[in-house]
Amino acid sequence: MRIILLGPPGAGKGTQAKRLVDKYGIVQLSTGDMLREAMASGSALGQQVKQTYEAGRLVSDDIMIRMIEDRIMQPDCARGFILDGFPRTVAQAEALDAMMARHGLSLDAVIALKVDEKALIERIAGRFSCKVCGTGYHETFHRPKTDGKCDICGSSDFIRRKDDNATAVSERLNVYNAQTAPILPYYAKKGCLKQVDGMAPVADVAVAIDGVLSAVTQGVLHGS
Ligand code: AP5
Repeated sequence: MRIILLGPPGAGKGTQAKRLVDKYGIVQLSTGDMLREAMASGSALGQQVKQTYEAGRLVSDDIMIRMIEDRIMQPDCARGFILDGFPRTVAQAEALDAMMARHGLSLDAVIALKVDEKALIERIAGRFSCKVCGTGYHETFHRPKTDGKCDICGSSDFIRRKDDNATAVSERLNVYNAQTAPILPYYAKKGCLKQVDGMAPVADVAVAIDGVLSAVTQGVLHGS
C-alpha cells in the first residue's frame, strides 16, 4: 500500500503514520525526520538545510525530490510506504507522480487531515519527545504515565523541536497555506483525495483513516 498523509503542521500526520506502520507493516517516510537526522549527524546536507528548517520555511524542491526518490528505491519500501510531509508543493507532487510512473508504482490513497489552526498551535506548543527512543508526548493530550519518565525506555531526557517555537510555527502555517494547500485540488482532480476530520480524538481519526484504507483495498475509493 502506498499512501500520502497531508495536513498542516501539528495535524497529526506523524501520529497516524506511526500507527499505520504497525498495522500494515509498511514504512513511514517522514521528510521532516530525514532532515532532523541529517542535521543531528552534522552532514553537509544537514548544515545546508538547518537555517531554512529552523525558520519554518521549505527546503528546496530539488533536495527533497532527490531525497525521497533515493528512499523509495530502498528494499524496505517494496511492501509499501506512507509519505508524511512529502509532497509539500505542487512541483513535488508532480515530480512524485513522474518518479512513481518511471518505477511502475502507483498511489493508493491521499488522505488529508482537516484541522483548525488554533488547535494546531496548542498541539505543537505542547509537544515533546524522549531524547533516547523518540517516543512522542504532549503536555495535555498524551503525558508519560509517570511524570518525567518515558513510558517506553524509562529515560528522563526529553527534547522539543527547534522549529516548534512561536515564530517558526506561525511561518510554517503561512507556508502551508501558501505552498502546500494547493496540493489538495491537485489530488482532488485525480480522484484519489480523501478528507478526514483531524480534530477528532486520535483513536477516532485512526478509525476514519482505516475506513478509507479498507475501501482502497476493496477497490472502491472515490475522490471527495
Ligand atoms: P515536518 O517534520 O514534516 O513537520 P510538519 O509538517 O510541520 O508536521 P509536524 O511534525 O509538526 O506535525 P504532524 O502533522 O506530524 O503532527 P503530530 O502527529 O506530531 O517538517 C518540518 C520541516 O522540515 C518543515 O517546516 C520544512 O522546513 C522541512 N520539510 C519537511 N518536508 C519537506 C518537504 N517535503 N519540502 C520542503 N521542506 C520540507 O501531532 C502534533 C501533536 O498533536 C502531538 O503532540 C500529538 O500527540 C498531538 N495530536 C496528534 N493528533 C491528535 C489528535 N487527533 N487530537 C489531539 N492531539 C493530537
